[in-house]
Amino acid sequence: MTPRSLVIDTDPGIDDAIAILLALCSPELDLQAVHTVAGNCPLSEATPNAVSILELAGRTDIPVFAGCPRPLIRDQQYGKFHGRGGMGGDVLPPAVGRAAEGHAVVRLIERSLSARARDEKLSICAIGPLTNIAAALSLDPSIAQDWQELVIMGGGLRVAGNRTPYAEYNFLADPHAVRIVLNSGAEIVLMPLDLTHQAMATPARIETLRAAGGRLSDIVVRLLTYWDRGDIARFGEPGGPLHDPTTVAYLIAPELFTGQKMYVEVDCETPLRYGHLVADWYGQTDNPPNATVMTGLDAAGFFALLTERLSG
Ligand code: BDR
Ligand code: CA
Repeated sequence: MTPRSLVIDTDPGIDDAIAILLALCSPELDLQAVHTVAGNCPLSEATPNAVSILELAGRTDIPVFAGCPRPLIRDQQYGKFHGRGGMGGDVLPPAVGRAAEGHAVVRLIERSLSARARDEKLSICAIGPLTNIAAALSLDPSIAQDWQELVIMGGGLRVAGNRTPYAEYNFLADPHAVRIVLNSGAEIVLMPLDLTHQAMATPARIETLRAAGGRLSDIVVRLLTYWDRGDIARFGEPGGPLHDPTTVAYLIAPELFTGQKMYVEVDCETPLRYGHLVADWYGQTDNPPNATVMTGLDAAGFFALLTERLSG
């Protein structure tokens, strides 16, 4: 098996950290670079957080490239639930190293073109605001064809928004970037809140992870425990939804997911619905599908995968 070449574009972020660690612990994936974007926290925190996660995993050979410090057009909205520094206070040790030279947007274009020259394709997981991805696609729209798939965490369809009544955070943070990406022709796989709210890191699942042990266990358990949203009225059970790791899990075990192709677009105009993802569930418009939207998750299988990989 040749591992898939993967780039993760991220704003770490607690669930981002778990997604990166899952990729690092999975032989099916060859994580080639981590690109950072402003989102949950300012870029000046997101980038050292990414470096620190790679140091924790002993993978300082993987470069971190810093990307865009602000959204394309709208004013900046930071995340709410990740604590000081975007990583639950001091759960992560401070980074020792630094980001590599070069801008994430430029590096993404270069890596895409270099994959094309070798007749290969990249997999991309985009788990923060889509600013870097949209900027790269604006500079060179042809690179959409160099991606095997672009797996995005963002949006919510039948589930209410998590930052406004309608909008999910990543899409709210840069809706104009979402619009560019959705219109790019890339092979998009979308993990909306409808899917990620099934991936609840409950105390029982965290305990299973703790009991499985392993080198990363202590830090993963502390991150997940911090992530407990304490919002049973919303989620139906204790814990917090593990949004971002679903994108990486999809590349490893797509059989855990069910969904359908449909046309989706984002609202960049209406004040109350700003960042809202609208879906043509039943093909009622003439717009061809532009994303495979995942809505069903085998949650037990997902957490079994996480436990197996993160305890290895
Ligand atoms: C998304 O927003 C961030 O807080 C999480 O890391 C995830 O990417 C969920 O709405
Ligand atoms: Ca994120």
